[in-house]
Amino acid sequence: EKGGYKHFMLKEIYEQPRAVRDTILGRVGQESGRVFLDEMQIQPKEFAEFQNVRIVACGTSWHAALAGKFMIERLARIPVEVDYGSEFRYRDPIVNPNSLTVLISQSGETADTLAAQREAKSKGSRTLSICNVMGSMISREAAGTLLTHAGPEIGVASTKAFTAQLTALFILAMYLGQARGRQTPEQSQDLAQELLRIPAKLEHVLSADAHYEDLVKWLFKATDFLYLGRGIHYPIALEGALKLKEISYIHAEGYPAGEMKHGPNALIDESLPTVVLATADPEDEASVLRYEKTLSNIQEVKARGGKVVAVATEGMTDVTRSADHVIWVPPTRELLLPILEVVPLQLLAYHIAVRRGCDVDQPRNLAKSVTVE
Ligand code: M6R
Repeated sequence: EKGGYKHFMLKEIYEQPRAVRDTILGRVGQESGRVFLDEMQIQPKEFAEFQNVRIVACGTSWHAALAGKFMIERLARIPVEVDYGSEFRYRDPIVNPNSLTVLISQSGETADTLAAQREAKSKGSRTLSICNVMGSMISREAAGTLLTHAGPEIGVASTKAFTAQLTALFILAMYLGQARGRQTPEQSQDLAQELLRIPAKLEHVLSADAHYEDLVKWLFKATDFLYLGRGIHYPIALEGALKLKEISYIHAEGYPAGEMKHGPNALIDESLPTVVLATADPEDEASVLRYEKTLSNIQEVKARGGKVVAVATEGMTDVTRSADHVIWVPPTRELLLPILEVVPLQLLAYHIAVRRGCDVDQPRNLAKSVTVE
């Protein structure tokens, strides 16, 4: 049932090209770049008129939500707020009928997210769910669902559901952008084509010989890790840190790269490995600028004696001058890079946990779905 893999988690990491491909399938026109959502109770006209979007989720799905904020704000120019399911109800949130509430949940059964959905509905908001399980509670209570087609996820640490969520959010962002006239046909075509290339690029990332076993030899004994990213890469830093915490029981923190100098720099020494997301779209000036800032952050860590593992873009080799180890992913558009760059972080966490002898598929104290508040 593990298809020859040692753990479900590893099998599911390798299923990501398929999970992403199936999530795109039938929703994005290859030639036109037009996006079609599944049948739902929310009308196209309503999508064009929502004044803001709120995304509510927990754990890994919350990290997808944070990345989704960048996608929707960039492509559709609608303000997006992101909340934890468990916090939403406790601050009497301001919700109105002009806001769309998006719930993200792999299982569709997370009690905190469901409670937030009910709260949003009671205040008159339309709710759309991004779920991996058809017929789950959250999807049944939503006015519409964008199903992620990751297939059943067994490993407690979410992997393929996450990349499928990022894919669904990108599709939703494109849809909103088109519905609101924020994307020219050329822009839509370009984004659609780049999206359609992601599954093959994921296959490439998975087939690259990145020497994780050698890499973890000098990492697996560390007691703390830092993960850094800027912009849309910050949520991926958080996700990398969560993967490591969940399955290897190593303390890890995700931080926005630029925030380091406001405090966390004090932690850096040779015993604290720092994992840095230093990818970029070489054709996008803003993305390259962001990348260059991240390179300076790597140099700051090095100057303080820290050890750096970077995830970087093939062809952009400056990073090799400062990082101790580089894992390469192919270039793509800035908003799609997260789907590629999270994979090395999943594999890193996996190999460290295996090396430490941890139960990767069923970490202590955790359940696959959290059905209590
Ligand atoms: O099923 P959900 O997406 O609603 O679950 C939310 C979190 O409980 C879940 O993502 C959790 O953080 C995972 N163990 C992460 O790997």
